[in-house]
Amino acid sequence: MSNELKGKSAIITGASRGIGKAIAKTCASLGINLTIAARGEGPLKETADEIAKEYKVQVMGVPTDVTKLSDLENLVNKAKEKFGKIDILINNAGVSSQYPFEKQPFEDFESLVHTNYLGYVRLIRLVINDMIKNKSGAIINMVSGSTLCDPLPRTFLVYSSLKVGLRAFSKGLFWEMRDHGIKITSILPGVTDTDLTGKLKEISTDTSRLMSTEAIENAIKFALTVPVNVCPLEIAVINQQTPWTAPVIPYKQQHPDK
Ligand SMILES: NC(=O)c1ccc[n+]([C@@H]2O[C@H](COP(=O)([O-])OP(=O)(O)OC[C@H]3O[C@@H](n4cnc5c(N)ncnc54)[C@H](OP(=O)(O)O)[C@@H]3O)[C@@H](O)[C@H]2O)c1
Repeated sequence: MSNELKGKSAIITGASRGIGKAIAKTCASLGINLTIAARGEGPLKETADEIAKEYKVQVMGVPTDVTKLSDLENLVNKAKEKFGKIDILINNAGVSSQYPFEKQPFEDFESLVHTNYLGYVRLIRLVINDMIKNKSGAIINMVSGSTLCDPLPRTFLVYSSLKVGLRAFSKGLFWEMRDHGIKITSILPGVTDTDLTGKLKEISTDTSRLMSTEAIENAIKFALTVPVNVCPLEIAVINQQTPWTAPVIPYKQQHPDK
């Protein structure tokens, strides 16, 4: 994909708040037209209006549940109708579930698999053929710094193991897609101050160790502006004082709701 980003078109999922909203603003600051997605219509519209007011780009919010294939098809169709093509896909929508495994609700497994893994793979499948035809495209998946831990962080096993799978899938997809001119990037953020980590924050004794979204915004900018013949395969931006090495998630911790 060429480095001229002005006027390009991107889909960003989970863009109504948190990391997704921050990186949507980063893309807008680079002149990229946006199709943003999330389930909650109100916050999505507010975000779309906010970005359109702040930056000179077109922004369309499409209410989407990434666990539903029909919603993903609608998202892609709407983006193509408005912008003609999709140059960039940023798969970011995600949910968390923190429990000691033996207490984790069964319904959380479905929600994690369908949102954090299957939603990503399906949406890539829906945009990839056009990217292949155009011999150009950038796909960025929001993975997790937890995939760097071995063993995985306790009480986050299902979440983190699906992120490990997503990271492996992304790396493999690069090798399959590189001759088509498509870049695939995994971003591995550390523990970031968003709604998703709200519960974690409550049990953290030192919130100063949580990252803001700034480093992830910089990583997105880097990923989209590397030379044409370079693929930023993985970018890990983790906390300097990473909570994994100190007991922000204490050994005997119970779920905060318990
Ligand atoms: N925060 C961290 O410390 C951290 C660290 C590593 C990786 N990550 C990853 O970064 C991504 C963003 O996390 P975040 O911290 O920004 O979370 P967040 O603040 O909770 O925001 C999540 C976003 O995803 C959307 N979303 C959730 N389920 C969805 C669904 N089924 N369909 C469509 N949209 C959905 C939410 O909107 P609706 O609820 O309205 O749908 C929201 O816009 C996730 O993939 C997460 O795993 C986060």
